Amino acid sequence: MFEEDYNLDKEITDYIDWCKEQEHPESYLIAILHKIQEKYGYLSQENMYEVAQKLRVPTSFVSGVATFYHYFRLKPRGYFHISICLGTACFVKGADLVLKAFQNELGIEIGETTSDGVFSIEGARCIGVCALAPVLMINDAVYGNVKPTQVSELLSSLRAKYNQEKKVSA
Ligand code: FES
Repeated sequence: MFEEDYNLDKEITDYIDWCKEQEHPESYLIAILHKIQEKYGYLSQENMYEVAQKLRVPTSFVSGVATFYHYFRLKPRGYFHISICLGTACFVKGADLVLKAFQNELGIEIGETTSDGVFSIEGARCIGVCALAPVLMINDAVYGNVKPTQVSELLSSLRAKYNQEKKVSA
């Protein structure tokens, strides 16, 4: 890989350069990975390779850290990213059944994205609106009092929205 093949944003490479000047640069790895995930939504193989090159650590060290912590995503999110709150209040109100309904409808597990890239699901901690339990977020929108029986219809309307938005932008 040549320098010009690097993809990371300048803000991130500047941060890595700063980390390299510190006493134990590798101890900043998690912070670096957080910045990358914040920027790109997930950690790609290429980006992890680039971090390893720049920090002068083995790629296996970077990918080992990335896979150890469940909050790092190794695949891109879907067009609609569904975060299902699994906090106590939501769990008591049946969030696990809501999650199951999404898993059954989409055929994917937590942390996965459908093969067409439209949907991804993730479990989330309390998002602070427990009175609306069970709660989920789809991208930035909050949905409260969600019932498992509503999941199929909700996905159909999102699919229609996706098709519409894709048609408009084509
Ligand atoms: S536990 Fe789900 S919003 Fe608080």
